[in-house]
Amino acid sequence: MNAIDYLIEEHNSHRKLLKNIEKETYLFEKFREELIHHVNIEEAILYPSLLKVPALEIITRAAWEEHNLIMQLVQEIDQTPKDNEIWPSKVIALKRLVLNHIDDEEVDLFPKIRAMASPEFLSEIGKQMAYQKKSISSEEIIYPEE
Ligand SMILES: [Fe+2]
Repeated sequence: MNAIDYLIEEHNSHRKLLKNIEKETYLFEKFREELIHHVNIEEAILYPSLLKVPALEIITRAAWEEHNLIMQLVQEIDQTPKDNEIWPSKVIALKRLVLNHIDDEEVDLFPKIRAMASPEFLSEIGKQMAYQKKSISSEEIIYPEE
């Protein structure tokens, strides 16, 4: 599958899970797992190729910084008991961060990639992503350095 279509499919699944995420802890757990896979795949496969394209370097670095913020917040949520009154607020903040991030990717970054990359390249990257998704687990979460 084309890499961009693949990522948009995942984003759509994120949007569904995020809708009521602050109300149901199982939704958060499911989302957390999907998010970690998604972030790992983008950082392992897509972003490194984009950094080699001068016109995409800054926008890619910005997206990477957003991932770091998102994962810092996930780490905070992991450390907050679910019955703590602050838990839903943190999860709502995470929801907003992620929705902004995926909207930015779809509105700005992905159209630029589609305009610059060949269909063969996008399909090769898509294949690598699908393969990588099968081989990583959520245990491999990499938190940003303190
Ligand atoms: Fe991303």
